Amino acid sequence: MTNDDEIMFIEDIPGVGPATAEKLRDAGYDTIEAIAVASPSELVAAAELGEPTAAKIINAARKAADIGNFEIGSEILERRKLVERLKTGSEAVDTLLGGGVETQSITEVYGEYGSGKTQIAHQLCVNVQLPKEEGGLDGSVIVIDTENTFRPNRILQMASPLGLEEKEVLNNIRVARAYNSNHQILLVDKASEVTKELKESDKPVRLLIVDSLTAHFRAEYVGRGTLADRQQKLNKHMHSLVRFGDLYNAAIFITNQVMSKPDTFFGDPTRPIGGHIVGHTATYRVYLRRSKGEKRIARLVDSPNMPEGEAIFKVTTDGIKDE
Ligand SMILES: Nc1ncnc2c1ncn2[C@@H]1O[C@H](COP(=O)(O)OP(=O)(O)OP(=O)(O)O)[C@@H](O)[C@H]1O
Ligand SMILES: [Mg+2]
Repeated sequence: MTNDDEIMFIEDIPGVGPATAEKLRDAGYDTIEAIAVASPSELVAAAELGEPTAAKIINAARKAADIGNFEIGSEILERRKLVERLKTGSEAVDTLLGGGVETQSITEVYGEYGSGKTQIAHQLCVNVQLPKEEGGLDGSVIVIDTENTFRPNRILQMASPLGLEEKEVLNNIRVARAYNSNHQILLVDKASEVTKELKESDKPVRLLIVDSLTAHFRAEYVGRGTLADRQQKLNKHMHSLVRFGDLYNAAIFITNQVMSKPDTFFGDPTRPIGGHIVGHTATYRVYLRRSKGEKRIARLVDSPNMPEGEAIFKVTTDGIKDE
């Protein structure tokens, strides 16, 4: 079979013979889409393939799978002219990100418990409401809270030094608890509806937070044969977040946990959850580490257009501040 249009079953992918197809199916890679969003190393492990063969199979699956819509260059140029930045409270962190958290992009922070992920999320909920001259986006925010860690009191602690009115600040934050990964995915559609309704209001939604992006996925998909399914779902979820950012010129802020990689001999053995799907879809990836007391270290990792680097900030009672 040579015509991409006619690829319907995984056996139709060039390079996948019956034996490989069976192994792939056993490991959960039973559709073209599942293979299209896999990484070569995942397929190598699942079907005892060589790395180049795995890469070839993935490329063929990507061509065959219907992935996304096209947008012409001039449309992208017009849309990108609208990109804005949201300040974090720390100039050092803003500089690391090229001026703050960018709209039409996904900014991911990952790190251990207590590293400040949820604290930054709270600060952004407050800052997004500030006028643009003060580093805000004069907008409101939607939070998808998967771990029940949103605290209105913490918002008020951060809002009061900025002179924001308590009731108004809280009213501009819409929070939804996500009870499992499917619910979490559906909440993005719901967020889109709400955002559409508020588009012409005086506080349009300019920020969408998912804290944590991966916790439910990590808890639900355990054991052999579940990775393919999990990655496919995460991929879909990430792409609906990208679309949300593009459609509403909103900043997308997601948090992610880390796991320890036991086979690392050099350097830091912690890795973010979610593999290459989350890594490649996030525009800015920031690794957070605890330092002494209030101090935290943010490291920009794998950014396509910014140099790698580090910034030091503090988590104080008043919120995120410079060192
Ligand atoms: N009111 C406050 N005043 C000062 N510091 C605070 C306050 N609330 C929380 N913190 C600091 O923030 C830390 C918690 O950080 P945060 O909740 O952002 O962690 P996280 O990275 O989201 O962790 P997890 O992976 O568990 O979700 C606390 O350990 C404390 O150092
Ligand atoms: Mg947290």
